[in-house]
Amino acid sequence: MDSGQLSRAEALALSGHRHACHVMLYSTTNTQLFGKIPIRYIILMQMRFDGLLGFPGGLVDPSRETLEDGLSRELLEELGVRLPVSIEDHVSSCYGPPLRPISSSSSSSSSSFYSPPPLITHFYVKKIEEEQVKEVERAAASTAADHGLEVLGMVRVPLYTLKRGGGLPLFLSHTFIGNARSQLVSTILRLQMMAREELHKALTLSVQ
Ligand code: APR
Ligand code: MG
Ligand code: MG
Repeated sequence: MDSGQLSRAEALALSGHRHACHVMLYSTTNTQLFGKIPIRYIILMQMRFDGLLGFPGGLVDPSRETLEDGLSRELLEELGVRLPVSIEDHVSSCYGPPLRPISSSSSSSSSSFYSPPPLITHFYVKKIEEEQVKEVERAAASTAADHGLEVLGMVRVPLYTLKRGGGLPLFLSHTFIGNARSQLVSTILRLQMMAREELHKALTLSVQ
């Protein structure tokens, strides 16, 4: 599991922190790649504006809305659909990556430096129907307010390994925002979406 974990309640009791909520939406499927490789699960991720892969969601201000309402608001902006997320879908909360040290090359010693409050990231997992996945993909690529802006496109995660490390190993070789990669891997493991040995092999084959 990720380090720096805390409970949802502990996280909300902290003052002076920013909060971000992201969700892994997934469904089961009976479809087969090339008519022979079972896809089994559709996991939705997105290509973000910064070129990194991540889960849909974003910054939430708990003094104005609940974490889950804020996450649903972000989903409406990024995916173009109303998808209620509940407290039962919460999986983990953890301290975000440490703030970047001040770069001597990008700021002169006399300029003031604004350091944003530390970030806590909350991760949710929600199962939806395959039809809803398709609806999300359609809306995210058309009516979503953030389409082409914060979100460059939705992607499905390949949960199989092909010759020469194709499929999951190469997918895991991309660069992910924050701890999205470990959130993905630990959820695949926890929900037994793949055999443990196959997942470990994919991790070994991935290029980091
Ligand atoms: N794990 C850890 N941190 C994450 C994850 C993740 N899986 N996904 C995103 N983050 C971090 C991002 O680095 C960002 O700092 O959470 C923060 C908010 O997530 P976003 O989805 O980027 O936030 P959103 O509200 O959708 O977009 C606002 O506009 O002002 C910019 O840079 C700002 O990224 C922010 C964006
Ligand atoms: Mg957003
Ligand atoms: Mg976002």
